[in-house]
Amino acid sequence: MKPRRFGYGRGRRAVALLVLLLCLCLSSAFLLLLHGSSGPLEPAAEEKAAAGARVAEARAEVEEAPLPPGNSKVAFLFIARNRLPLELVWDAFFRGDKEGRFSIFVHSRPGFVLTRATTRSRFFYNRQVNNSIQVDWGEASMITAERILLSHALKDPLNERFVFVSDSCVPLYNFSYTYDYIMSSSTSFVDSFADTKAGRYNPRMDPIIPVENWRKGSQWAVLIKRHAEVVVEDEVVLPEFQKHCRRRPLPEFWRDWDRPIPAEAWKAHNCIPDEHYVQTLLAQTGLEEELTRRSVTHSAWDLSASKDRERRGWHPVTYKVSDATPALIKSIKGIDNIYYETENRREWCTSNGKPAPCFLFARKFTRGAGLKLLDSSLIAVK
Ligand SMILES: *[C@@H]1O[C@H](CO)[C@@H](O)[C@H](O)[C@H]1NC(C)=O
Ligand SMILES: *[C@@H]1O[C@H](CO)[C@@H](O)[C@H](O)[C@H]1NC(C)=O
Repeated sequence: MKPRRFGYGRGRRAVALLVLLLCLCLSSAFLLLLHGSSGPLEPAAEEKAAAGARVAEARAEVEEAPLPPGNSKVAFLFIARNRLPLELVWDAFFRGDKEGRFSIFVHSRPGFVLTRATTRSRFFYNRQVNNSIQVDWGEASMITAERILLSHALKDPLNERFVFVSDSCVPLYNFSYTYDYIMSSSTSFVDSFADTKAGRYNPRMDPIIPVENWRKGSQWAVLIKRHAEVVVEDEVVLPEFQKHCRRRPLPEFWRDWDRPIPAEAWKAHNCIPDEHYVQTLLAQTGLEEELTRRSVTHSAWDLSASKDRERRGWHPVTYKVSDATPALIKSIKGIDNIYYETENRREWCTSNGKPAPCFLFARKFTRGAGLKLLDSSLIAVK
C-alpha cells in the first residue's frame, strides 16, 4: 500500500479533531484550575486572546523601537592588498571593547587567506569577504571593493556605521572613545570638496553627472547606514565612472590637482575614482546636507618627497619607525580644524556638540612604526 503522507482520510481527520478538542478541553480545565476560579470558559479564552495581542504588540514595538545604542555596531571595513601588517595594533584596539560593538570585514586579494599563519590576531580569522576582486590602486575596482565590503556588512542589521580602513592605517584612540565619537554623530564623515579646477572631471559625464556635483576627497570615509545603502544600490554614477575614468599610465605628479592635465590625457581620463566616487555620489543624490564634510582619517601629503623636481607631486607620507614619535602623534591628535581651500571653508571639528580632535585614525604607518607606537601606548589604547 502506498503511504499517504500528505492527505488524511475521513477517519483520521475525525480522530485528529477529537484529539484537538480533548487538548483544548484539558488545557482550559487546567487554566481554570490554575486560576482557582469556577468562572465560565469565555473569560479565559478572552484573556488568552488579549495576552496574545499583547505579545504581538510588544513584539511590534521591539521591532520598531530604535536599538539601544549599546547594541549598535561599527563595521570596520579593511581594504588590504594581502595581509594586515598592523593587525596587532587593531587587536589591542578591539580588545578594548567588552560589549561586541564592532564587526570586521576584510577585502584582500582573491586567493589570499588570513589564517594563524598569516595573521597574529584572532579578530581577523574568517572575516574575509568571499567574493573579493583584484584591486588596482587608483582604478574603479577600488570602488567595487568598497561596495563588496558594504554589501556584506549591511547584512548584519546591527551594523550602523561603516568605516573604511586601509592596511596602513592605525586607530589613534581607544575603542570606546572612537565608538562614541562615530556613533554620536548622525552624519557620515566624508572628506569632500568642490574640485572644479582640477580637470579630473570628464565633460562626457555630463549631463548624468553635472560638473556641479563633482567632488574630490579622501576615500577613507565613515558612512551611516542609509548612505552605505545608497553606495551599494547605485546604478547611475558607478557606470559613468567605469566608462569615463579609464586608467592611463600617468606619472604620479599628475595627482597634483593644481596642475592642468595635458590635453591628450582627456582621451583616457584618469580621474582617480576612489578619490571622487562616494563624495560625488552623495552630492549627486542630494545627501550632502547629511554629511560632515571632512575625514576622520589623517593622511599627510608631502610635496618634497620626491627629489626630482619635475616628478614632484603629492605623495601620502609613510611613517617609518624613526618617524613614530610622541611628537608626531601629539601633532596629529592636536589638529582641531581643517581648511578647504577650493571652497574657502574651515571645518572646526566637534564631537557631540563639543570641540574635539579631527582625527580618529591616521595613515600611513609601517608595521614597525605601528608596533613602536603601540608599545609606548601612544595609539589604540588611550
Ligand atoms: C559567500 O557567502 C555567503 C554567505 O555569507 C553565501 O550566501 C554566498 O553564496 C557565498 N558566495 C560565494 C561566491 O561563495
Ligand atoms: C579612552 O580614551 C579617552 C580619551 O583619550 C579617555 O578619556 C578614556 O578614559 C579612555 N577609556 C578607556 C576605557 O581607556
